[in-house]
Amino acid sequence: MKNKVDCHPHIPVLLDETVSQLITKLDGVYVDCTVGFGGHAIEILSNIDRNGKLIGFDYDPYALEYSKTRLEKLNSNFELFLSNYSEIKKNLKLLNIDNVDGILFDLGISSYQVDSGYKGLSYQVDSPLDMQLSLRAGANLRDILHNSTELEIANIIYKYGEERGSRRIAKSISKYVKKNKMETNRDLVESIKEIVPDRFLNKTLSRVFQAFRIKVNNELDNMVNAINDAIDILKPEGRLAVITFHSIEDRLIKNIFRDFSNGKESIVREMGFNFPRKCKKIVRRITKKPICPTWDQIKANKRCRSAKLRIVEKI
Ligand SMILES: C[S@@+](CC[C@H](N)C(=O)[O-])C[C@H]1O[C@@H](n2cnc3c(N)ncnc32)[C@H](O)[C@@H]1O
Repeated sequence: MKNKVDCHPHIPVLLDETVSQLITKLDGVYVDCTVGFGGHAIEILSNIDRNGKLIGFDYDPYALEYSKTRLEKLNSNFELFLSNYSEIKKNLKLLNIDNVDGILFDLGISSYQVDSGYKGLSYQVDSPLDMQLSLRAGANLRDILHNSTELEIANIIYKYGEERGSRRIAKSISKYVKKNKMETNRDLVESIKEIVPDRFLNKTLSRVFQAFRIKVNNELDNMVNAINDAIDILKPEGRLAVITFHSIEDRLIKNIFRDFSNGKESIVREMGFNFPRKCKKIVRRITKKPICPTWDQIKANKRCRSAKLRIVEKI
């Protein structure tokens, strides 16, 4: 399998491991729900034949445009949608496609989106408190921080960031809000810096920023619904591959896959999520344990160290 990591804004993670397992039919239809800068998408397109097709989604217009230019050079059969992947079924309908052979989710955000300070995702770049990645208007981070109680803020940080100091951090954030000093990323960083020792600061900041990003974008509900839709639209023997980057996401994917391979709901509902339709035994797990990056891959790209790949096949 060819490797095309070159020097694009994002290094694709577990590239060969994912694409080699995802493609089961050279003339199949494949969906990349998180096209980003096209690392996986281009690999999929390069490994299917002229009768195969790739459909891609991303809600970041810059990344999608970049990928379009990249994919066009292959002159292949693809369609890209500037869209939330929660609209996967609706968008496939527009193309008169009901079922597909493989679907990929490479969850989270790309390194470029963080480093460039896009939408205020980075704690290292100052910008207004935003983090809204979806195209539909909702509440940005400033509104959430200004309209939530201290306890609600603590719960967000604990639930989505797994940060044990959530209560102390929420207290400091609320103090800044009350003093009208919570408008930018720098304000948020200052409020956390005030109570967290320097040696823990970066880890804490990345957990808190992750938690707020997940909350602002309703990421986990979107993901659970989209994974359900994805399983629904796979053809028999079609495969679904999901790459996660943190433990909450991975736990959810692991349990959703387990439930659809056993035909009964277990703890996903207890974790506070709903299956939109009855859970039947409709997949078999290709990976019982997740596939993780090798030491060499981690050495070459430190950011991939927490990646986990899980794959199921529709029965
Ligand atoms: C980790 S990156 C994917 C990188 C890509 N596989 C590559 O090789 O360049 C995740 C991408 O998913 C997009 N994304 C995250 N959640 C999304 C959602 N709900 N709908 C559409 N795109 C989403 C982000 O904008 C980001 O570009």
